[in-house]
Amino acid sequence: MQEFSAQNLPRHVAIIMDGNGRWAKKRGLPRIMGHRQGVKSVRRTVTRAREIGIKYLTLYAFSQENWQRPQDEVSLLMDLLYDYLEKELDRLLKNDIRLTTIGDIDRLPNRVREKLLDVMEETKDRDAMVLCLALSYGGRQEIVMAAKAIAQGVLRGEVQLDQLDEALFSRFLYTKGMPDPDLIIRTSGEMRLSNFLIFQGAYTELYFTQTLWPDFDEAAFEAALKDYARRERRFGKTSEQLLGS
Ligand code: FPP
Repeated sequence: MQEFSAQNLPRHVAIIMDGNGRWAKKRGLPRIMGHRQGVKSVRRTVTRAREIGIKYLTLYAFSQENWQRPQDEVSLLMDLLYDYLEKELDRLLKNDIRLTTIGDIDRLPNRVREKLLDVMEETKDRDAMVLCLALSYGGRQEIVMAAKAIAQGVLRGEVQLDQLDEALFSRFLYTKGMPDPDLIIRTSGEMRLSNFLIFQGAYTELYFTQTLWPDFDEAAFEAALKDYARRERRFGKTSEQLLGS
């Protein structure tokens, strides 16, 4: 098993899981079969991330825009999510994984939201890895929500405008308390962020693979991590400055 050195390992990996529909179409199957297969990739990826020692794994499971999909696909995705949460709890506990979420979870059907809150509560003291599910998530909406909360804070005298900086702003985002993603992976060959972590991803390394999400396995994940390990993250500085620091 190829292991990774802590030095070159991303602390936070975020994944845009794309290509479930195309995977199914290629096989003449209904789209939902692609999503079903995609859940297996979720399990594989969570397990491997935990083994390798990644501290935060965020998965874009359902975007704000996904509510516009046909109603039956949305309900089947919600059913898959519910089943996943129900079946996964034991494994999360056993592997010391805490579940969290980002997004407007009030829009989720009650039973899914309640199950999510249950699993979050049950796993809240686990600390080997954080698995964060982005559900009903949109990056622009998140920024607008933060701006509104800050404006309210200012009106109430709880936020001083001259103290507002990037760090304070970040505390009003869903990702409050989480490090920014070091690496965002997108499967299926699309090269866009699609409203995912657009504030947090300002300096994130991007990795795109042709692999469709249901085919994303341990080897594909490790290829992304190896690619990341070779990169030099300069955050606007020069290579020489980094060597000197
Ligand atoms: C994108 O593929 C995938 C989604 C919109 C849903 C992702 C959901 C899962 C992997 C399963 C449920 C998640 C969890 C965490 C249990 P697409 O449908 O846009 O594919 P296409 O672009 O090929 O049509």
